[in-house]
Amino acid sequence: MGYDLAAISNTLTEGLNAFASATSAEELEAAKREYLGGKGVVKAILGGIKDVPKEERGEYGKSANLLNVKLTEALKQAEARLGGAKASSKPGIDLTKPGRRREVGHAHIITQTIDEIVEIFGRIGFNQVEGPEVEDEFHNFDALNIPQGHPAREEADNFYLQLNGPDWDAKPVPMLLRSQTSTIQIRTMESRRPPLRVIAPGRVYRPDTVDATHHFMFHQIEGLAVAEDLTFVDLKAVLELFVREYFGADTKMRLRPHYFPFTEVSAEVDINCEMFSHLKKPWLEILGCGMVDPNVLKAVGYDPEKYTGFAFGMGVERIAMLKHRIGDIRHFTTNDMRFLSQF
Ligand code: DAH
Repeated sequence: MGYDLAAISNTLTEGLNAFASATSAEELEAAKREYLGGKGVVKAILGGIKDVPKEERGEYGKSANLLNVKLTEALKQAEARLGGAKASSKPGIDLTKPGRRREVGHAHIITQTIDEIVEIFGRIGFNQVEGPEVEDEFHNFDALNIPQGHPAREEADNFYLQLNGPDWDAKPVPMLLRSQTSTIQIRTMESRRPPLRVIAPGRVYRPDTVDATHHFMFHQIEGLAVAEDLTFVDLKAVLELFVREYFGADTKMRLRPHYFPFTEVSAEVDINCEMFSHLKKPWLEILGCGMVDPNVLKAVGYDPEKYTGFAFGMGVERIAMLKHRIGDIRHFTTNDMRFLSQF
């Protein structure tokens, strides 16, 4: 017999108590099932309204609805109290489930590219060296056989800095953000005696307008070897080994005559390989190289009659873009995880 106002009142008291005293999601879930579930007490009471004699149905119905509202409200409060952990209809924590995997960071694609290239040269005896990004004109130009008045030294093409030393009254020393890693050739030769083989990655800066293929900051990798009797054949053999290791064993390489102030003879290296078949270009330029100009050897006090050397330099962004089919150099510096996490 559903018609019993006292039963409603008791249910309210007991229900409020059950929700208020629940101390875990599981307890709350059980109380919810008992009072507000599909087969719960409240449902039964509401379902009984229709059986109550007409003249008493109004009051009974009101009480029954109020019971429903109050217990639903109490349930919400209890859920909030238990740390917002809304009691779900599923069983509690499953301790056998695998844990949530934490994202682990990884090296930037430019760092990865540098590491791979440096590693390949490392296998044939090239040691990694570095140099400063703020340079003087001697290391960036003069010692590299780029004389005063040479177009590469123009103000509009370099980030010149006026740096004061400790003495503020002294003339500022003209410096610049290095425009090429060839500076490291000079720094290495100044501090070592031949024979030497070094590979030098680093950032370089040029005031270029930024677009899909240009940036005011990018990376280069410079190579230098100096010894007695090094020839162009040695240079070619080293580069061939590198392109086959890095771009694939099927890679064809060709040397195209070119001019650089710090090498004589000089060449640019083009490659043709399966990796770039999608570009539909038979040859792609990947680096500049040559035999170290005797003037450069002289600038660091090496005897050009006794020693010869070869050098090469490549743009890291360009190589990474070719290899990974990256269409815009700006991706490297915008720090967008949708880009970075692809590599
Ligand atoms: N420094 C050159 C540049 O920035 C690249 C380069 C070319 C480096 C030939 C070399 C070299 O060592 O031999 O364009």
